[in-house]
Amino acid sequence: MEIKAGVETSMTTLLWMILLMIRNPNMQRKLRDEIHEKLNGNVPVISDKVNLDYVMAYISETLRYKNVAPIGVFHRAISSTKIGMILKCASLN
Ligand code: HEM
Repeated sequence: MEIKAGVETSMTTLLWMILLMIRNPNMQRKLRDEIHEKLNGNVPVISDKVNLDYVMAYISETLRYKNVAPIGVFHRAISSTKIGMILKCASLN
């Protein structure tokens, strides 16, 4: 089965988040407690992010610790291009 860009990256990151939670039950408890305390039984919405310090730190730290694209994606100009004063050559030879 072939899985594409946004799906593969998100899926792998989510799997790491779950695995790390399994291995760190204290962390999992803290995440759950913060969600229960701050959301008070409501469905989460984007504006809740500012109140979920531990959850947001957990997400950021997983993206750093288990980075699925650590060296990013290579780029090169496909034709000579002038950006401001910089001239980018099409050839890397
Ligand atoms: C944890 C999740 C994700 C990670 C770690 C991730 C990582 C990356 C990285 C490293 C790049 C290359 C950036 C560059 O040009 O140097 C990229 C590009 C891109 N990603 Fe993601 N991605 C994630 C999720 C998603 C999702 C969910 C979508 C779409 C719904 C998506 C759509 C794209 C698109 C369209 C580009 C190309 C942007 C462009 O250069 O035009 N990504 N992503």
